[in-house]
Amino acid sequence: MTTSQLSTRHVLGIKYLTEGDIRLIFETAENFKEVINRPIKKVPSLRDVTVANLFFENSTRTRLSFELAEKRLSADVVNFSASSSSVKKGETLLDTVNNILSMKVDMVVMRHPAPGAPAYLARHIDANIINAGDGTHEHPTQALLDAYSMQEQLGDLKGKKITIMGDILHSRVALSNIFCLQKLGAQVTVCGPPTLIPKYITNLGVRVEYDLRKALEWCDVANILRIQLERQDIKFFPSLREYASSYGVNREILDSLTKKIVIMHPGPINRGVEITSDVADSDQSIILQQVENGVAIRMAVLYLLANKR
Ligand code: CP
Repeated sequence: MTTSQLSTRHVLGIKYLTEGDIRLIFETAENFKEVINRPIKKVPSLRDVTVANLFFENSTRTRLSFELAEKRLSADVVNFSASSSSVKKGETLLDTVNNILSMKVDMVVMRHPAPGAPAYLARHIDANIINAGDGTHEHPTQALLDAYSMQEQLGDLKGKKITIMGDILHSRVALSNIFCLQKLGAQVTVCGPPTLIPKYITNLGVRVEYDLRKALEWCDVANILRIQLERQDIKFFPSLREYASSYGVNREILDSLTKKIVIMHPGPINRGVEITSDVADSDQSIILQQVENGVAIRMAVLYLLANKR
């Protein structure tokens, strides 16, 4: 069901992509993965295209990965960080972006703490917008690289079983993963303490499992999420130590399962909380492959959107 063009000129969320879009992004990423493993890693596909990376919230992986993807495609790149900008003097989001666009920018990659901020921009400006994470809403390129990495391990994801573990309530990665995996035909379970599992989640067609061991025994892949303390204004569990003892994935619990499962984490990791170091750094973990695949996936998204201009 692959198409030759994306059905959309923005990537605001996985919710708005078709299965064909996702498969096209994966096929295109496959080609770019080959490119970035060559001695000369650069192609001229985005020559004459200017991309602005607007980050209103902290990032390491996503920001570096987009910048590298843009440079590998020969785009001109400008970077903006809210903490060192005139946003601090009270400038609005639309004024900030319109000023940047006056400098003839074609595409905008934006991370923002407010859910819907990239969609708001897409309604007001002409550039292609890529959502690099909007609050607790969506993080589409993370879900694409996660699903692509799972597919590399398991083959086609139809019927495969994926458990998403941890702080589902505050996670944009969880929502984008659920949409992406379901569009590819996978089954999804979410697992975590009841306080961190939103009530609406079963309306999305996912299973809920509160027992860590059962959730891990059920799945082929566990995608373990970070406890997002910076988004928690009240206490959702008694202490990090108690969270780790009930929901932390450690070597002992993995060794007690009847099969070897794939371990993933979008980063940044709280070592010793949601995952122990001996698991994160083990041969079951594909955390660094996820990061490598992120560059190829983002090259694919940028390339396909540029073709829609
Ligand atoms: N996975 C992820 O979004 O990481 P960063 O916050 O470092 O970009």
